[in-house]
Amino acid sequence: MATDSLHELMIDGLRDIYNAEQQLVEALPKMATAAADPGLANAFRSHLQETEGHVNRVAEALRALGETVSGKKCEAMEGLIEEGSELLKQKGKIPDAVLDAGLIAAAQKVEHYETATYGTLIAWARTMHHGEVTELLEQTLEEEEKANDMLSDLAEGGINEMANAGAM
Ligand SMILES: [Fe+2]
Repeated sequence: MATDSLHELMIDGLRDIYNAEQQLVEALPKMATAAADPGLANAFRSHLQETEGHVNRVAEALRALGETVSGKKCEAMEGLIEEGSELLKQKGKIPDAVLDAGLIAAAQKVEHYETATYGTLIAWARTMHHGEVTELLEQTLEEEEKANDMLSDLAEGGINEMANAGAM
């Protein structure tokens, strides 16, 4: 697709994040299963539910713009998830809390990627006066920011200390 206009850049960006969110729907259950800390496992499960909603909101945004709902492989998300799955292979070989601390780090990289992406898409949608799209994406951005904060709270609320103590 020729991306010679801001509108087309935005459509391209929406299709990229649509695919990225779908990849996350596949990855989050594996992270929830691998997490040893029950609070962390819950955080991954509740963010999975939110992420299913994010997929739907991006689809709605594309429809609101009169575009077909389709994704375009997000190489960045694929790479971030690949790094996380390297860590999953270490389960049972490294202390649980170390694995949890690593899972949090991987998940926060994902949240930052999403936060950056939605921040840009919202700014473009505002510039082009697409109010409905702006609102949809703002709801998702808020959930991504909360998910990131929750991960920081879990890391700093005990998991990092346990990892540092090397508890199995
Ligand atoms: Fe998301």
